[in-house]
Amino acid sequence: MTTTDATCPVRELPRDRCPFDPDPAYVRLRVEEPVTRVNTPAGLDVWLVSRYEDARTVLLDGESFSNIDSSSSHLIGQVEQLQQPPPPGILLRLDGEAHSSLRLRLAREFSPKAMARLEPYVQALVEEHLQRLIAAGTPFDLYRDFALTIPSLVIGELLGVPVQDRDVFASTTSRMVDISLTAQEREAASQEMNGFLVQLVQAKFADPADDLLSRLITDPRKHPVTFEELVGLSLLLLTAGHDTTANMIALGTLRLLQEPALAERVRDDCEVLQTGIDELVRYLTIVHYGVLRLAVRDVQVGDVMVPAGDYVAVSLESANRDEALTLDPDRLDLERTSAHVGFGYGVHQCLGQHLARLELRLALPALLRQLPGLRTVEALPDIPFKNDMIVYGVKKLNVTWDGAR
Ligand code: HEM
Repeated sequence: MTTTDATCPVRELPRDRCPFDPDPAYVRLRVEEPVTRVNTPAGLDVWLVSRYEDARTVLLDGESFSNIDSSSSHLIGQVEQLQQPPPPGILLRLDGEAHSSLRLRLAREFSPKAMARLEPYVQALVEEHLQRLIAAGTPFDLYRDFALTIPSLVIGELLGVPVQDRDVFASTTSRMVDISLTAQEREAASQEMNGFLVQLVQAKFADPADDLLSRLITDPRKHPVTFEELVGLSLLLLTAGHDTTANMIALGTLRLLQEPALAERVRDDCEVLQTGIDELVRYLTIVHYGVLRLAVRDVQVGDVMVPAGDYVAVSLESANRDEALTLDPDRLDLERTSAHVGFGYGVHQCLGQHLARLELRLALPALLRQLPGLRTVEALPDIPFKNDMIVYGVKKLNVTWDGAR
């Protein structure tokens, strides 16, 4: 699995993010060693790609790179899992035809048109949760009490989780990623969720309704989606779409609050978020360590010939701050219309990106409008950040506002 060439220096994966900017080591790497050998915290030697153009080249090349034996969690997670076959339905761990046929069936469920139909639901959800917090009238943890709840309930709506089960669904998804719990408690929540999803998919097979799972079941195509694929897919949508969006809501709010002029702009000018959401996704790049691919044939990346069998880690946070991508990339400029790889790129580019944009576009201004004087309880140096996790964000974000007790 490790293929370190003795002539190549192996260093550590840069991880000193502070708190909105990537590790400064990337500035030098992009110039001097844009494709270089590093050792990941999980003990894997990989080729680290730090330039935007090289990142796009790798992510676009589904012939030379495979996802089956790699996922971003392996960058800091357990490498022993690498050679285990992925469970069915996990799009991120599929290649070629198996990936494209499943992705094609899902595409229209996440299209801009489908998201426009969902907008009134998300709007009402954001409103209802903010009203609850305002009525309680006390400082709250914006990450736990608001940001985590909205995306999980939206996924519940998409999957067709019965209304009476939504609160349990939301609290179980939150426990799955709650780092104040022990690893065993989080694992127990994942097991509970798995059992919940098995029952949900069984119910959809027995009695299809008007939701994503039912439409996949009744889709008249030649190769129906199997029971196991639907359970895996539901779990993937939850894991890929829940904590990512939650972290973007909380970290995005925190970043806006650092520059009151930007926060006011988002509060007062709906138009600015047409470009502003993608700029926040670029600037914050919460999938900060990036994504992993396995070279399945010898392939040129920049100046390096990567041999078949080697892993390549594409640093999304570095690519998005590449001076060759956009002028002054370290500045958050909500009117910038730059491309970026914050949602990935190529065939595995984020399936839920229009949904994430919708949730952020509704949640961020609503927080700033309805909680006048919104501010953090702790000063920035005292806010805990998730440097040690695949998805970057705040561990908690206590906030208060002018009307709070
Ligand atoms: C701001 C929030 C989000 C960010 C930053 C984000 C980021 C990403 C990134 C970087 C990838 C590519 C991974 C790779 O190439 O290995 C990805 C893939 C994916 N995302 Fe998202 N995501 C977000 C929200 C969502 C939401 C809301 C959903 C759905 C509910 C979702 C579902 C997926 C799925 C299913 C994939 C795999 C696609 C495939 O393999 O074809 N994501 N996301």
